Amino acid sequence: MPVESPASLASYIQIAPSVMCADLCNLEADIRELETAGIDMLHFDLMDAHFVPNMPIGLALIEQLRSKTDAIFDIHLMVENNDFFVDAVAEIGVQQIAVHVESATHLDRTLSVIQASNIKAGAALNPATPLSELDYVLDRLDFVLIMTVNPGFAGQKMVPATLRKIAECRAFLDERGVDVPIEVDGNVSFENIPKMVSAGADILVGGTSSVFHKSGSRAENVQRTQQAVALGLADRF
Ligand code: DX5
Ligand code: ZN
Repeated sequence: MPVESPASLASYIQIAPSVMCADLCNLEADIRELETAGIDMLHFDLMDAHFVPNMPIGLALIEQLRSKTDAIFDIHLMVENNDFFVDAVAEIGVQQIAVHVESATHLDRTLSVIQASNIKAGAALNPATPLSELDYVLDRLDFVLIMTVNPGFAGQKMVPATLRKIAECRAFLDERGVDVPIEVDGNVSFENIPKMVSAGADILVGGTSSVFHKSGSRAENVQRTQQAVALGLADRF
């Protein structure tokens, strides 16, 4: 990443609103507001009620939204059968897919299948999962998803140790010459964003504690998120 001023570096940090936190009864209008506010991609949490005990959205919602927006679709699979859902969302037309290392029986093969479909492949790590899980799939990665909460639900508090894990993940990848972005997901709040960005976060999943915060409109919250990003960048470079 070129060394530039924090203000111009802000464009390197991407904001990915978590669709499960949107107004699902007025979703198209909500997405329009977010696009006008200036977001970079939409984060979709696909859960099967087995890997995690929840199922907020499904394939039909993603398929219907696909025809309504050109936004980048960032899929976060929290499922037991990764290969089934990879095929299903690839068919819909998405730009990146993260699979959890904890549920991937054949992680190398699944990541390869995603990349072979010209989709960016990511490995997602639960808070307690060590970075060493990435060691033998580094050449299959286009990004890493660091869960800063235990997956399955919005509105949780960040697991404190994951802040250190973001910085250690950046060092882990840099030491191995792997120049891929780090996405962070879970309680990415106005307060936590500066620390997360300073630690090395490049893609921020905005949920109930930032983009969808009850205190402001979508536009106001995106602006507050961008301000928090600038604080973190000033500290990072
Ligand atoms: C949780 C999901 C997150 C969640 C974020 O498993 O992966 O995307 O929606 O919600 P907040 O930001 O409220 O923690
Ligand atoms: Zn997610």
